Amino acid sequence: MKVSFAKKRPGGSFALAIPVWGEDMLADRLASLDEAGRKLAARAADAQRFEREAATIAETFVEEGDAARRLLLIGLGGKRDDEALYERIGGALTARLLTSGETRLVVDLAGLEMSGEEAARVAFGAAARAWRYDIYRTKLGRKAKPTLAEVVIVGGGEGADQAWQRKAALLTGISLTRELVTEPANVIYPETFIARCQTAMEGSGVDFEVLDEKAMAKLGMGALLGVAQGSVRPPRLLAMRWNGAPGAKGKPVVLIGKGITFDTGGISIKPALGMESMKWDMGGAGAVAGTMLALATRKAKANVVGICALAENMPDGNAQRPGDVVTSMSGQTIEVINTDAEGRLVLCDAICWAQRQHKPEVMIDLATLTGAMIISLGHEYGGMFSNDDGLAAALASAGMATGDKLWRMPMGDAYDKLMDSPIADMKNSGPREGGSITAATFLGRFVNAGVKWAHLDIAGMVWADKAGHLFDKGATGFGVALLDRYIADHHEG
Ligand code: BES
Ligand code: MN
Ligand code: ZN
Repeated sequence: MKVSFAKKRPGGSFALAIPVWGEDMLADRLASLDEAGRKLAARAADAQRFEREAATIAETFVEEGDAARRLLLIGLGGKRDDEALYERIGGALTARLLTSGETRLVVDLAGLEMSGEEAARVAFGAAARAWRYDIYRTKLGRKAKPTLAEVVIVGGGEGADQAWQRKAALLTGISLTRELVTEPANVIYPETFIARCQTAMEGSGVDFEVLDEKAMAKLGMGALLGVAQGSVRPPRLLAMRWNGAPGAKGKPVVLIGKGITFDTGGISIKPALGMESMKWDMGGAGAVAGTMLALATRKAKANVVGICALAENMPDGNAQRPGDVVTSMSGQTIEVINTDAEGRLVLCDAICWAQRQHKPEVMIDLATLTGAMIISLGHEYGGMFSNDDGLAAALASAGMATGDKLWRMPMGDAYDKLMDSPIADMKNSGPREGGSITAATFLGRFVNAGVKWAHLDIAGMVWADKAGHLFDKGATGFGVALLDRYIADHHEG
């Protein structure tokens, strides 16, 4: 989507959107139309019972010379402290116009006294909602093809272009995440995940380090390798480094993503119904990759390492069995009760390696870790587990500000004890109850004292069965805006 900001409406044809606050006089907002247009728009709004609720739309056509111009009145609601409102407005307009035949959208903010930042947020919503992945559709009908290609925001305050630069970088990252998550598992597996990231980050300044099985075996990553051994696709550990604050003495922020490129469950195999959705079991790794691209694109002044634990979980003659005992890189042994609890097995070795290699001050992992998380929070909030109140508060507020919302969950010794094993140091799966919490306490056993750590269980967030404000149904890109914002607010200058 082409985005620009202007003082006045451009010439030529376009659909015109006029935002309206709950308390605005409609006549004031329509002042730019002629008498007949104002009357028609007011009647159309009335007939559609347009009450200016946030992101609701009333639509009509008005005469412009000998052409008909599509006019959209869009509600802003009555709450000026609604944090994600401006993005939502842009997203709603795109959702309405994407395949409408309109090619250009002009949003006229004149008279609303919106800042440049707010104008850029409207543009971001419009552009984010336009993302689609149609490469596998060879029969997309004329009316199903996107037409909207440009948005012009008119009448916002100063600084919109600059604010947009940052948001465009963020959108670049989100788009990479959505692409990685959307691609099927015959296309994206550990090696091709890395290749895709390398292509996307070529020339961005992000350094790549890749560990293959041999390197991982040498380091003793028995937990990660155990998950991968049933697949013909070899596992990889990917570390991406962005050094945006070279002089800084502070330790880096380390992000770690679960990257199971397909999760059949292994020998503890999942039921067939819905198993195709397990192609997005790499959504945590996808969010980490997208964040690295976003940070590098906007040249964030922070030192960040993004680590992806990549493997495929398959049943096979060589697959690990329930009851197998593996030794993790930390030296701790794990009884594999359930081969479908594989995310924690790949993450525990990634966590151990991250701490030895990069000595983080803050370590945040993202994982589509448990179905139980969806039972707890549905698709509204990701679950957050943390050993540090400050970090948890910072992430929660970055979540509110970006719309990637998080809800903090409890941990503690009583939960942790449930993961004790009669034969090894721990087992990889506990009772059904509190399944997300015991998964988190399992990971907590690999976190070194003094490291501020948060675990984000985003099982319900990376994929949506219905469209949201900023995404169509499918991959959401959850986590990228959240991490980008957290780093901007807490680790830059
Ligand atoms: N990738 C799944 C979690 C998941 C399930 C995400 C459904 C999204 C939707 C994970 O690897 C898994 O299978 N977890 C098991 C853990 C259990 C065996 C302890 C689960 O949640 O059932
Ligand atoms: Mn699983
Ligand atoms: Zn999984």
